[in-house]
Amino acid sequence: MTKITAPKYDEFYAAGGWKYRPDFEMKFLGEMTAAAGLAEGSEIVEIGCGQGFHAKILHDLGFTVTANDLSQEGIAFAKTNYEGPDYHAGDAADFLSGIEPESVDAVFIRGMSWFHYKFTDDRPLAAKRMMPRIARIVKPGGAILLMIKTDYTGTETAGGVYNHLWTDFPALLGDYGTITRMTDWRGMVLNSEEDGRASGHGMSVVVKTEGASGG
Ligand SMILES: C[S@@+](CC[C@H](N)C(=O)[O-])C[C@H]1O[C@@H](n2cnc3c(N)ncnc32)[C@H](O)[C@@H]1O
Repeated sequence: MTKITAPKYDEFYAAGGWKYRPDFEMKFLGEMTAAAGLAEGSEIVEIGCGQGFHAKILHDLGFTVTANDLSQEGIAFAKTNYEGPDYHAGDAADFLSGIEPESVDAVFIRGMSWFHYKFTDDRPLAAKRMMPRIARIVKPGGAILLMIKTDYTGTETAGGVYNHLWTDFPALLGDYGTITRMTDWRGMVLNSEEDGRASGHGMSVVVKTEGASGG
């Protein structure tokens, strides 16, 4: 996987960004949000929404979506092409601090840069340091939905992008609620490290919160 640093995303999005299959992504997110028990009208916050493709799908699925990305270019594209969600450009840590505690039904995160590095990493922007800020805004009984690319090999690119192991996910997320669903990006259920290795196709995880209110 090529590492794209945050400022580089403006350039990447200006050149077109990623291409997704709308029907596939809609079905996948429909199943993921159903597994999270999210009713129509639930409020979902997305961080690292890029060009807004998945935020728009969540909106079309009937949710009230507020989405953030560091890339001005990504947010400008989203506002023009994927109307519906409320978009905010800026750093996700600042964006999250502006949201009331336990005020949203779910946080959705897909491919967001914090999660591409080792979860044990304790740099200032490491996922393990950011998780309390994410969990803080979710209502008890809400959900955290995370999708991140990995091939389950535990290998690291020269740029530090890490291919998480299956066991890394319960280790990172277990403190924030109950993990109710782990699948790959094709929807295959992954119950073990062996399942992850056999798949090699990304992780999608649903955590039901139990009143987590870290700070
Ligand atoms: C791999 S892209 C994923 C984009 C989108 N979620 C998708 O799946 O197409 C990672 C995104 O994280 C964003 N990002 C990185 N650091 C961020 C930060 N501190 N605050 C908000 N967004 C950030 C980048 O700008 C980029 O759009």
